[in-house]
Amino acid sequence: RTAHLTLDPAFTVGDTTPRLFGSFVEHLGRCVYTGIFEPTHPTADADGIRQDVLDLVRELGVTTIRYPGGNFVSGYKWEDSVGPADDRPRRLDLAWHSTETNRFGLSEYIGFLRKIGPQAEPMMAVNLGTRGVAEALELQEYANHREGTALSDLRVSHGDKDPFGIRLWCLGNEMDGPWQTGHKTAEEYGRVAAETARAMRQADPGVELVACGSSGQGMPTFAEWEATVLKETYDLVDYVSLHAYYWPEDGDIDSFLASAVDMESFIENVVATADHVGALLKSKKRINLSFDEWNVWYQSEWEARAKTFAQDDWPEAPRLLEDHYSVTDAVVFGSLLIALLRHADRVTVACLAQLVNVIAPIMTEPGGPAWRQTTFFPFAQAARHGQGRVLDVRVDSPTYETKKYGEADLLHATAVRGEDGTVTVFAVNRSRTEALPLEVTLNGLDLASVVEHSVLSDSDPDARNTLDDPDRVKPHAAEGTTLTGGTLTATLEPLSWNVIRLA
Ligand code: AHR
Repeated sequence: RTAHLTLDPAFTVGDTTPRLFGSFVEHLGRCVYTGIFEPTHPTADADGIRQDVLDLVRELGVTTIRYPGGNFVSGYKWEDSVGPADDRPRRLDLAWHSTETNRFGLSEYIGFLRKIGPQAEPMMAVNLGTRGVAEALELQEYANHREGTALSDLRVSHGDKDPFGIRLWCLGNEMDGPWQTGHKTAEEYGRVAAETARAMRQADPGVELVACGSSGQGMPTFAEWEATVLKETYDLVDYVSLHAYYWPEDGDIDSFLASAVDMESFIENVVATADHVGALLKSKKRINLSFDEWNVWYQSEWEARAKTFAQDDWPEAPRLLEDHYSVTDAVVFGSLLIALLRHADRVTVACLAQLVNVIAPIMTEPGGPAWRQTTFFPFAQAARHGQGRVLDVRVDSPTYETKKYGEADLLHATAVRGEDGTVTVFAVNRSRTEALPLEVTLNGLDLASVVEHSVLSDSDPDARNTLDDPDRVKPHAAEGTTLTGGTLTATLEPLSWNVIRLA
């Protein structure tokens, strides 16, 4: 059976923000150390930043980069991470059972962003686990105040004359999770988040603030948590956060391929909850969504590994969460990107967790090369061609049966119209065995030709890029895609991620 899409510029979801293509650098495993920062690496610059990684980060096209956690932030003492590197204390990182050297800190993070280029924007989290309002204000003053106060002058004395200009701030991380250091009830968190937000706005009314939502739609407190937190913080914050990770539970690949069904319902449920609170408060303000952790993550493997940690072993930058992504993973990942784009009217910040080595599109070897994982390609293509106005596509697709989500569409798709009038269709075929014929009706769009149909697929769905074979998987050109008389015709290979560009 053929899948059909209808595109019409009169029907749109909304405009994307560059922040939709953000990522995340946490002090976790080798994301920072031997990931982006490795002073002894042959490509490292004078600041210890690996240039091979920097090149890949630029190619990936990431914008906003969230920092320094994640679970790590709930024990974070920002003042440990500034000043002369040799004087910085070594600390236990309870979140990841590691030793944090603080060799890379706040100034190095801002320096890294500046090296990436103007598209890179900081998104800083404050610690609301072991700390509170006072420390958040101190960090804000150190980072953003020009000069003439104790903490801004301290920053200047550390060599950073210009303030860091951090606009976007996360009020803690996953405070609903019992694993979080300083975990709180919704009432407790709502209060501290509101007071922190109020104080940070007193210092600078221009900050944009993200309240913690749930760590996943499956959390027992989901929705009640958002409602309670937003009742406390509605007028004080701009965003509520969402986090979601997917993996093939019990080896159920068919459900795994439909993970975006869960992601889309998660988004829609948070929108409904936030708008419900807005209605209760008779507010005209709309809270947007910051999907600031999303990815494929083989979480069960991490949980098994965590149980094996020796209590007295606190390694520096151990190999943690180093998932090696297959073609199947990349197709699911692409579908998650489609889900975000399809909700670009309300999801106005999103961060791929994470950037390097830790569940990441970029991998490195200490002293050795850096390479692209399979998931690198969908992200880079979406970041490059997915900016503009998202069209409200009408999908008519054959379906398949999944254990977790019931009947799911084989086709998952969206389309984005760029400022120059070109249109890019992003599409996933979830069938593991069958090619999917696709017909796209283009109404009211002045498009004459197929610029490119790029596809990521492989005869081996388990194929991946590795240290020994870093270029095993990459997108290739699809054949036979045509555009005639306002109809686009293509064939989507089994288990594939597709980018079809029309001009
Ligand atoms: O991204 C890995 C971890 O996942 C983060 O530290 C935490 O916020 C989430 O549970």
